[in-house]
Amino acid sequence: MAERATVLVTAVGGIIGEGIMKCLRLANTKRGPVSYRILAADADPRAAGLYRADEGLLVPSASAPGYTDALARVAKENRVTAIFVGADEELAVVGSASEQILRKSGAVVISNKPETITIGSDKWKTYQFMKKHDLPRAESSLPPGRGRFVKEFGYPVVVKPREGHGSEQFYVVRSNDEIDYAIGAIRRRGWRPMLQEYLSEDDNEFTTGVTVGKGKRVMSSISMRRTLKGGQTYKAFIDDFPKVRKAAEQVALRLGGAGPINVQARMAKGEPRAFEINPRFSASCPIRAGAGVNEPDILYRNLVLGESIKTAGYERLVCLRYWNEVYVPYAEYERARKTGKVNGSRSWVPEYF
Ligand SMILES: Nc1ncnc2c1ncn2[C@@H]1O[C@H](COP(=O)(O)OP(=O)(O)O)[C@@H](O)[C@H]1O
Ligand SMILES: [Mg+2]
Repeated sequence: MAERATVLVTAVGGIIGEGIMKCLRLANTKRGPVSYRILAADADPRAAGLYRADEGLLVPSASAPGYTDALARVAKENRVTAIFVGADEELAVVGSASEQILRKSGAVVISNKPETITIGSDKWKTYQFMKKHDLPRAESSLPPGRGRFVKEFGYPVVVKPREGHGSEQFYVVRSNDEIDYAIGAIRRRGWRPMLQEYLSEDDNEFTTGVTVGKGKRVMSSISMRRTLKGGQTYKAFIDDFPKVRKAAEQVALRLGGAGPINVQARMAKGEPRAFEINPRFSASCPIRAGAGVNEPDILYRNLVLGESIKTAGYERLVCLRYWNEVYVPYAEYERARKTGKVNGSRSWVPEYF
């Protein structure tokens, strides 16, 4: 008999929160040791995940004061044993309140430690971290060092925001004027620019998921070569890629602590060089789960139940992503807006593709 657990997933209107929900559902259909009851939270009644969970709840926005108290309250009321954070914007807020949430509600926040989140949330700090530990990386510079940087690496040069996501404000530039333009545009967006050496070519980008468990042990790692669309993995080729995985495992272990780590890299002269670390579940985690590495389930079983886990491998697969639709009766949507509660059984996803 599977152990029944109620877990809370936040930010279920975005690709990360939705992805975590897909993983938990997949664990249920595979009849693993834990059967998950999913409580989904979002601030917006239009969040698709609210309608696909066992129960949906409207909560304050993560930037509102008292957000983590609200999460702890919901967790306590519903006997939640773990909280999965579904958005970048919430990582620092919820991650730094994890001890408090555990004390108040008994729920374990499945998150990295605050220092890891600080490093991963700032691409310049990520670079400095990798340099300090001599990990294979894309060389980078802040704007004042641009002259020297261009002389050393030549054009093209990447200009991107330290705090960006989804490829927003990502530029590949080929002249001094273009560098100026990119730096200005990033600053106007309210972000801080940095320069990075351009890692070519297409067909050469990898995203790797690593789970680090209690006692700083790698429990799983899985890589895929991918193309992107709108900043997200679009076509994925899941394969062994031992070099890429090894490099990502080194990065994850260096970061320390337990949790989900996503390392993005490109191959240069046969060696993987990392350019981003996401200290969280990746938007592609359901693809990994589909290939046999279910990261939310692995981390729940290790961090909450204390199970010792080491995955044996995974399936070689090609994954082609597409858009899908959730339909909600208008009355259910209006009810959700009024009461803040959603009954998941009233929505549907047709099997039409
Ligand atoms: N140094 C680089 N060289 C070549 N392409 C890059 C480089 N850095 C980023 N990219 C491309 O831009 C995408 C987005 O950049 P990334 O650093 O991952 O930021 P984010 O995903 O947070 O927007 C990457 O997936 C990759 O395709
Ligand atoms: Mg990225």
